Amino acid sequence: MLEVKDAYKSYFTYGSLFSRKSQDILRGVTFSVGQGECVGLIGESGSGKSTLSRLILGLEQPSSGEIFMEGESIIAWSKSHRGQMSVVFQDYTTSINSRFTVQEIIAEPLSALKKSDKLTTLILELLDKVELPTTLLKRYPHELSGGQLQRVCLARSISTQPRFIVFDEALSSLDVSVQSQILKLLRNLKNDLNMTYLFIAHDLQTITNLCDKVLFLYQGRIVEQLRTSELFKAKSEYAKNLLASVIPFGG
Ligand SMILES: Nc1ncnc2c1ncn2[C@@H]1O[C@H](COP(=O)(O)OP(=O)(O)OP(=O)(O)O)[C@@H](O)[C@H]1O
Ligand SMILES: [Mg+2]
Repeated sequence: MLEVKDAYKSYFTYGSLFSRKSQDILRGVTFSVGQGECVGLIGESGSGKSTLSRLILGLEQPSSGEIFMEGESIIAWSKSHRGQMSVVFQDYTTSINSRFTVQEIIAEPLSALKKSDKLTTLILELLDKVELPTTLLKRYPHELSGGQLQRVCLARSISTQPRFIVFDEALSSLDVSVQSQILKLLRNLKNDLNMTYLFIAHDLQTITNLCDKVLFLYQGRIVEQLRTSELFKAKSEYAKNLLASVIPFGG
């Protein structure tokens, strides 16, 4: 479904007032995600995970390389398939309008697609899917807990029945018990809706819990790709070190 081919991305940074140099963030990233697959992307902070997710979402262009969705360039695909790709960010507090009620937040992508018939019924169904009570409909973001708000974002992200969702550290700012509840919910949704995910995280346990395949991003490259059931076959130093660090905890 998604194919990333030899993607490079560099940004200009200012060394001093007059010197500008280019910094390579992604240095030849290649991987693919099959229909119905849930792929985890793990990498250190600053390794370029969010940069890669912006390229996949078509929000930025790669410096070189290509990104295809169903054989079409990602930019063209996004235009002809509105609402079929969505994203959930880590920082849910800034990714939503704080003056909107829960109902309005969830309705936003649907209204943008001019799908407004049976809107209320749809929103109620979505709340049910993310296991939130309907009594929250008229509440504002500041009247919800972090976990509730992230569920609202999740409801919004699946509202248009997207076929591909990017989760960029969507659970990282939640506490462990809420994380595991939402992970369980995501697993159910994945089975129910037959969605394809790219799930970005910096801890391996969250990824192995949810994903079929893991990509290890290190110094701008995918240094290893493994099926979750075959992590013990890791060869790269980076993947081996990560795996070694979770084994004592039963991962
Ligand atoms: N628009 C930009 N201009 C210049 N540098 C940028 C830009 N966006 C990202 N960077 C740099 O690219 C590098 C990778 O950033 P990115 O946000 O992709 O990392 P990340 O892997 O998502 O990290 P984290 O786990 O902390 O979210 C960082 O060094 C960052 O400063
Ligand atoms: Mg990031």
